[in-house]
Amino acid sequence: MAGAIRKAVFPVAGLGTRFLPATRALPKELLPIIDRPLIDYAIAEARAAGIETMIFVTGLDSNASQLRSHLNLPADRMAALAGKSAELGRAMAAADLPPGAAQFVTQEEPLGLGHAVWCARELVGDEPFAVLLPDDLMDCDPSAIAQLVAVFEETGGGVVAVEDVPKEDTQRYGVIDPGAVEGRRVEVRGLVEKPRPEDAPSTLSVIGRYVLPPEIFDELARFERGAGGEIQLTDAMAKLIGVTPFHGLRTVGRRFDCGSKAGFIAAQIGFALKDTEIRDDVLRQMETELRV
Ligand code: G1P
Repeated sequence: MAGAIRKAVFPVAGLGTRFLPATRALPKELLPIIDRPLIDYAIAEARAAGIETMIFVTGLDSNASQLRSHLNLPADRMAALAGKSAELGRAMAAADLPPGAAQFVTQEEPLGLGHAVWCARELVGDEPFAVLLPDDLMDCDPSAIAQLVAVFEETGGGVVAVEDVPKEDTQRYGVIDPGAVEGRRVEVRGLVEKPRPEDAPSTLSVIGRYVLPPEIFDELARFERGAGGEIQLTDAMAKLIGVTPFHGLRTVGRRFDCGSKAGFIAAQIGFALKDTEIRDDVLRQMETELRV
């Protein structure tokens, strides 16, 4: 399936400080939900939207090489594992990308999400593209990014996934100033990064899925610092409002905030209870735990 969007950017240069010490040597995107690392869920989501090229923006450290070896497993290790059983072979193949599909670029300094996306400009080129933050684990059918691409095909411009958050949480998100609502789609009139609850234009917040026009790179190239002294993707998107159509989409499905410990555990429970092989055991364990 060839979709309107061919390329996806995955910013994976974060230090994973909230999951230390687990992330001392392990990129947080390789933390598993059951038996699949977060990055695999995000890649599968992109592939389900017909996206072919996956661009990973990594940091300079060893995290980058670990991600690379996860995504491009050396052929001998692949053969050794896949040769053990058909089931293992299938599990290995599920995480495999076709040759050339994974591309890497380095973000030399951690200057913010906007800067990370800007680092991918040469690999993206002059075409609209997707951005997926693997911390936000989306359990959606059609895939969350496929839902955004469908809106993009109608509206063009920029499309972001949005969700209502508790008012006290607005300072953790990009928050939109909503305009006209049409079903699950809402016009974006303004965007603010991490506003205090009393300053937030609404509680409708951006979650980590975006379809963006290439013009975003011109805005990012100004290197303007925003919230937290970082180059914010939200600020660059805000500049495009009025120049290009901009919409939020309340995606159908569930989101787990795997950037937080509680959200990460909720994802484990949610996915375990959907897995027929382990569901009953897990339920029994949970009942036991609740009695202790
Ligand atoms: C980033 C974005 C923010 C967005 C959030 C979604 O923030 O800057 O606008 O709402 O992702 O997860 P971060 O979580 O990197 O602080």
